[in-house]
Amino acid sequence: MPVIFPIGGGKGGVGKSFISANLGALMAKRGHRVILIDLDLGGSNLHTLLGIKSPPSGLDRFLDKTENRLEQVAVPTHISNLSFISSLHCSMEIANLYHAQKIKLINAIQRLSYDCVLLDLGAGTHFNTLDFFLASDRGVFVCTPEPTAIENAFRFIKAAYLRKLKQVISHNAFHKIVKDAAQDNGPQALRYNDIVDIVLKYDPGMEMFLRDSIRRLQFKFILNQFRKNTDSALGEKIKTVCNRHFYSPFEFLGHIDYDERVTDSILSKNLFTLQFPESKTATDFRAIVDQLAPKRVASHTTVKVP
Ligand SMILES: Nc1ncnc2c1ncn2[C@@H]1O[C@H](COP(=O)(O)OP(=O)(O)OP(=O)(O)O)[C@@H](O)[C@H]1O
Ligand SMILES: [Mg+2]
Repeated sequence: MPVIFPIGGGKGGVGKSFISANLGALMAKRGHRVILIDLDLGGSNLHTLLGIKSPPSGLDRFLDKTENRLEQVAVPTHISNLSFISSLHCSMEIANLYHAQKIKLINAIQRLSYDCVLLDLGAGTHFNTLDFFLASDRGVFVCTPEPTAIENAFRFIKAAYLRKLKQVISHNAFHKIVKDAAQDNGPQALRYNDIVDIVLKYDPGMEMFLRDSIRRLQFKFILNQFRKNTDSALGEKIKTVCNRHFYSPFEFLGHIDYDERVTDSILSKNLFTLQFPESKTATDFRAIVDQLAPKRVASHTTVKVP
């Protein structure tokens, strides 16, 4: 079983793809066998960050059943140990993915024979995006220090809890609980937190089981595009708030500094952390990789994650 790191977060443009590509490259440089999968269907651009101008068919061939095994649609990158699956040629957006295709894809991801799998997710809280985030209990969400990004990240977290509950109890039971609660309280009163609480408390016999299910989600997060004037304690503050208000443990992986040379590195088809290894931004990335995939391993062994 690979260690799967979905990279998500509610807001667009916060750096999910930039972070996926650079974390993947650094993990591969440490000897882990890594695969990056672009799951931003309809908005895929991970290939550009990897310096691949015209990626061949990838996920489309697995989804349309041309290839049976997900490994078969992976291509090597110029970085040894790092493979890639593109979704550039997928004709659909995330909203149009059939349920059966999604389940087949998640099952195939969980069976991949790599050490680390990084999933670059699209923005927003569409339930398919959430299901990819929940494909592992090691989801990483990315936000920037801007209030709008933090707000969207909170919305994303709450949506992930709700989605998890919907996975655990039946679809019909979930909707009945929410409908009953809306009748009692009025639909306006139902906010995300209220719904999670209502569902948790609906059946006292189920409450412990449901709480255990959502407690297993371990959220990790990164603050990207950190600038000199940003409050250096912001990450720890967000962690404290999340651990106080939500239902499972939150871990702050660290800041990644804003560096204006990032655009140049993308234009020149270089991965920033490899082009500027001495930069503060690259140092920040390495500190995060230390936590996610610390050990240099031989290619046939599995990564041990703490
Ligand atoms: N640490 C950083 N320093 C400077 N620029 C950055 C940094 N991180 C990201 N960027 C810039 O932000 C832009 C958006 O990043 P990216 O495409 O990775 O975001 P995203 O979250 O994947 O967006 P989308 O939701 O559209 O997929 C990039 O083009 C890059 O130039
Ligand atoms: Mg992206």
